[in-house]
Amino acid sequence: MAQAVEEMTLEEAGEEHARLAAEIREHDRRYYEKDAPTVSDAEYDALRARLLAMEARFPELVTSDSPSQKVGAAPAAGFAKVRHARPMLSLANAFDDEDVRDFAERVRRFLGLDAEETLELVAEPKIDGLSCSLRYENGRLVQAATRGDGQEGEDVTANVRTIDDVPANLRGKEWPEVLEVRGEVYMTKPDFLKLNDNQEASGKPRFANPRNAAAGSLRQLDPAVTKSRPLRFFAWGWGEISELPRDRQGAMMALIAECGFTVNPELKVCDTVEGALGVYRHIEELRAGLPYDIDGVVYKVDRLDWQERLGMVSRAPRWAIAHKFAAEQAQTVINDIDIQVGRTGALTPVAKLEPVTVGGVVVQNATLHNEDEIARKDIRIGDTVIVQRAGDVIPQVVAVVLEKRPKDARPFEFPTVCPACGSHAEREEGEAVRRCTGGLICPAQRVERLRHFVSRDAFDIEGLGEKQIAAFWRDKRIDTPADIFRLEAHEATADPPLKETEGWGERSVANLFAAIEARRAIGLDRFLYALGIRHIGQENARLLARHYLSFGALRQAVDAAQDAESEAYAELLDIDGIGPKVAQALLDFFGEAHNRQAVDDLLGEVTVTDFEPPAMESPVAGKTLVFTGTLERMSRDEAKARAQSMGAKVAGSVSKKTDLVIAGPGAGSKLAKARDLGVEVIDEDAWMTLAGMA
Ligand code: IVH
Repeated sequence: MAQAVEEMTLEEAGEEHARLAAEIREHDRRYYEKDAPTVSDAEYDALRARLLAMEARFPELVTSDSPSQKVGAAPAAGFAKVRHARPMLSLANAFDDEDVRDFAERVRRFLGLDAEETLELVAEPKIDGLSCSLRYENGRLVQAATRGDGQEGEDVTANVRTIDDVPANLRGKEWPEVLEVRGEVYMTKPDFLKLNDNQEASGKPRFANPRNAAAGSLRQLDPAVTKSRPLRFFAWGWGEISELPRDRQGAMMALIAECGFTVNPELKVCDTVEGALGVYRHIEELRAGLPYDIDGVVYKVDRLDWQERLGMVSRAPRWAIAHKFAAEQAQTVINDIDIQVGRTGALTPVAKLEPVTVGGVVVQNATLHNEDEIARKDIRIGDTVIVQRAGDVIPQVVAVVLEKRPKDARPFEFPTVCPACGSHAEREEGEAVRRCTGGLICPAQRVERLRHFVSRDAFDIEGLGEKQIAAFWRDKRIDTPADIFRLEAHEATADPPLKETEGWGERSVANLFAAIEARRAIGLDRFLYALGIRHIGQENARLLARHYLSFGALRQAVDAAQDAESEAYAELLDIDGIGPKVAQALLDFFGEAHNRQAVDDLLGEVTVTDFEPPAMESPVAGKTLVFTGTLERMSRDEAKARAQSMGAKVAGSVSKKTDLVIAGPGAGSKLAKARDLGVEVIDEDAWMTLAGMA
């Protein structure tokens, strides 16, 4: 038992205070800089509470660097939001040569290229930094924004102006009137080491890696601090552009270099996939000697007209892919195995590791996926294992080093009851995952759902992160999503009010309430995603939103679709991309009384705004199209993608709701049905004209 603070002498308290302060600082560092906390929130709070008790009794212990003097760590607010004129996309990943060949094949198929046609690819290093979009109007830098969620980032113009690699005025005169140059802000390895030495010398926390150092340096509220940090910039592309002065990716990058940017010197245009893979191997060899971190090679289709046709899917372009380097590995010991309960009740085993550095980051937890995986790899507690980490993915246990297995290594018994609520945990047939059956009585699931509800791609409430949610839930301030919107109303009668609790004050509470207020209206797709329904991720939420347009329409359709014989059910399954599993998950969710109750309750607090199809003048916007028969001038995939990008819905079968059928040669029953129903039918040539591609 720890000694009671009231009984301590100043000397005893002084000693323990110093130890505690160091420990808390270390936890802060893990939490905020590495995003890898090693203690539970409750343990952390207990440490802080004890430190505060000591300081209350012996005020002489309060020094300016005590953790008690620091509220939070990451700057919560401070940067204005910027909506990107064109979204900042992410990239699909390839992990080996085959994945890259498949990518090239997919591109060829989509474009309908024959074997003789050359598909040039640009290959260049993938820089491990943070992406930024730099907007130039008439050659002058007017705005710089971080990527954020891809749609909306933070305005970091003042900070970016301090980066030497970023010209304030474009060179030459060939630039378009509006040009958004996109690229990566990074820090070199030598600069990172120097910065960390300085941090250490002045008693400040060290950064985990150059990427974190670059991110931390860019997101400074005081541009003078950013200026003192050695940031650099590699351009890799562009966003909004008033005209395209070149017709190839490679040529555009050359032009961007002429404007005064640094383009990576390893960028090469290749005639074949094998040539591109050669560049990959070359860059892989250079990697260790390069003065900056890279985590793979990006390939991009060189022809811009083809990029345009290929478009994007799931927020990543079809015309580019990132070929990742093999994951870095290390050996360490499994000290224990914990079970985490996720938002849908999935029990995930997590290995508690002896801390080990893998690729520059300290790893102490690794996912073991599920019980079959533990059995397959024969993982036991006490085993020495190989762990690996690739990019941002969660560290994984690759294999056991059997030679090092100690005699007392213990096989892990996977629980059949939920460790959080004691409910039975079941495996559904054909599923590897064991799930808690407690549903909403399970505290772990409830908290995880709340966390998901406020996460970045859902309600995205500034200043309300995982940590705050966990604390509010523990203190019984919130229980359901709707409660978040009642926090302010309850503040007057709350005991204690939030503003009087640890880490909060008058101002931070006011900011939080303002941030919550700002989210009382939310788009249908985000709302659906936020509900945390199984299998309804961002992509499916968007498909549903695009189809039903309003929450009212969706709810009505789902209610009707509970009858599997109904037209509504057929319509749900007919949405391109929505399969039976997803449909069932949606029906199950709305079939449960407590979910309906929670949603109704929430609708009393927030307004769900209708889905707005991409604002465009398009003859097919909002219409439902069906393609049938053979298309000869573009692949089926391209036709569908084109229709969707023009704001149309694509369905698999013809019904009363179909607006237009595009029929190629060989069209059969669908064409007949369209004629029956009097639906308009056009041929491929007419479609090409309609799609602006004739
Ligand atoms: S192209 C639509 N090229 O990687 C094109 N991205 O994982 C999207 N990145 O968000 C990006 N080096 O921040 C591209 N040479 C490169 C890159 C690169 C680093 C980053 C970029 C992007 C992320 C996707």
